[in-house]
Amino acid sequence: MALELAKRGHPVYLAGRDQEELARTASDLQLRSGAPVWVGEFDAGRPDLHSVYFEEARVACGKIEGVVLAFGYLGDQGRAEQEPDEARRIMEANYNGAVSILLVAANYLEAEGAGWIVALGSVSGDRGRQSNYIYGSAKAGTAVFLQGLRSRLFKSGVHVMTVKPGPVDTGMTFGMEGLPLLAQPDAVSRAILNALDKRQDVVYVPWPWRLIMAVLRAVPEKLFKRTSI
Ligand SMILES: NC(=O)c1ccc[n+]([C@@H]2O[C@H](COP(=O)([O-])OP(=O)(O)OC[C@H]3O[C@@H](n4cnc5c(N)ncnc54)[C@H](OP(=O)(O)O)[C@@H]3O)[C@@H](O)[C@H]2O)c1
Repeated sequence: MALELAKRGHPVYLAGRDQEELARTASDLQLRSGAPVWVGEFDAGRPDLHSVYFEEARVACGKIEGVVLAFGYLGDQGRAEQEPDEARRIMEANYNGAVSILLVAANYLEAEGAGWIVALGSVSGDRGRQSNYIYGSAKAGTAVFLQGLRSRLFKSGVHVMTVKPGPVDTGMTFGMEGLPLLAQPDAVSRAILNALDKRQDVVYVPWPWRLIMAVLRAVPEKLFKRTSI
């Protein structure tokens, strides 16, 4: 997504934990797009620093037009069922951390009276499944948070878009076998930015997931609990 935005001429600020990796990505983006790219710190697990991280980005860029929230932690569902620390990590990264930084971004953009927020949720948040209900519940919470944030910021001319990807071929799914409709990140990024251009509120990528999840949500709980998905 950073590359797609940079190719459109937007200056990009990459924030994350691994500064070496970010610096490598930034050089690559700069070479391929010619757009200015900065890097900075962001740790979802340090909500006490979220205002500081955001201010660092604002100072570097001068002005922030939009924010893409693309961090997440899938974790290990089996381990999380036995080890509260793993469950906490999943909840903190995917819900607490997301809500905290999005509120900082929301307050800034609301004051600007313009801008956009794109936040990556997941189809996993649409229905609790036994195979990943801890991650799924954090994504579901974030999706509801985003619904409210969208209504709040609409009044200030700020657009909030929720993205619900199915499985995507990234580090998160590396080594997993048999993932249905596995999408490539570049196709996903283009679909997200096209949806942002159209100011869509909620976008499923690839789009068939909207239908798949509608069907899955419609299965009565009495039947659903007998499945092992
Ligand atoms: N890949 C999929 O199949 C899929 C499907 C549906 C939704 N999603 C969502 O799409 C988004 C992008 O995921 P991805 O596929 O790119 O996953 P990924 O390859 O695992 O990348 C996740 C990124 O999140 C960062 N991160 C994790 N915990 C963090 C924390 N506490 N603070 C700051 N950064 C943190 C990681 O940084 P480090 O390198 O520092 O760990 C990494 O850069 C996530 O929100 C994910 O939940 C992915």
